[in-house]
Amino acid sequence: GDVAVLVPAAGAGVRLGPGRPKALRLLAGEPLLVHAVRRLAAAASVHTIVVAAPPAEVAAVRGLLAPVAPVIVVPGGGERQASVAAALAAVPDGPTIVLVHDAARALTPPELVESVAAAVRGGRDAVIPVLPVVDTIKEVGAGEVVLGTVDRSALRAVQTPQGFRRAVLAAAHAVGGDALTDDAGLVEKQGVAVSCVPGSEYALKITRPFDLALAEHLLAAGG
Ligand code: CTP
Ligand code: MG
Repeated sequence: GDVAVLVPAAGAGVRLGPGRPKALRLLAGEPLLVHAVRRLAAAASVHTIVVAAPPAEVAAVRGLLAPVAPVIVVPGGGERQASVAAALAAVPDGPTIVLVHDAARALTPPELVESVAAAVRGGRDAVIPVLPVVDTIKEVGAGEVVLGTVDRSALRAVQTPQGFRRAVLAAAHAVGGDALTDDAGLVEKQGVAVSCVPGSEYALKITRPFDLALAEHLLAAGG
């Protein structure tokens, strides 16, 4: 395998409601992070997995993942971008492709991991999985008054894993900047072209209680 996957998993999960850090919340009896890492490890290209864990949970996460796959666990940071940077710094020499994948996208199929990695291997600098936007999107101003309707056909909802030539991601993180919600955003700021591949409904980000309930149903149905 020529791929290292960074797994930011240090978030609190505030929108999921009170409880343990989100990556450690249970889905069908197992932590979200276990589901996510098992699917990453099932992708043939994946050589190295680096997890950025909640700092207080580093030892617990090592223990949890030891039976699942060989992983490197580092303490995450206060923002997602800092967690990704910490994981990137722990990647050993070797992998030439780096993927960044949210632990919260626990049901992401190994096939999507392979598809993103293959697009980078095929010569793209940066690759993101996307889905079309299904709702009508409006821009709203003060007092929740509509300012206008956005052309939905030009919009995409963006998932992870996002894939990069290793040097491209390293250069973007070295420059850094305001914390963004994805890594492709950092790379875009460097003027690097970012290409899209088709995403997967199973790569949904478990953010709110509804998403966790949906994931339970998808798993029960064999997802
Ligand atoms: N993440 C991280 N370090 C942080 C914040 C987020 O590693 N300081 C990770 C989360 O663990 C998650 C991914 O980034 O796997 C996407 O973030 P999000 O879905 O927003 O998770 P949380 O930040 O945990 O959730 P919330 O924003 O509701 O608190
Ligand atoms: Mg968050």
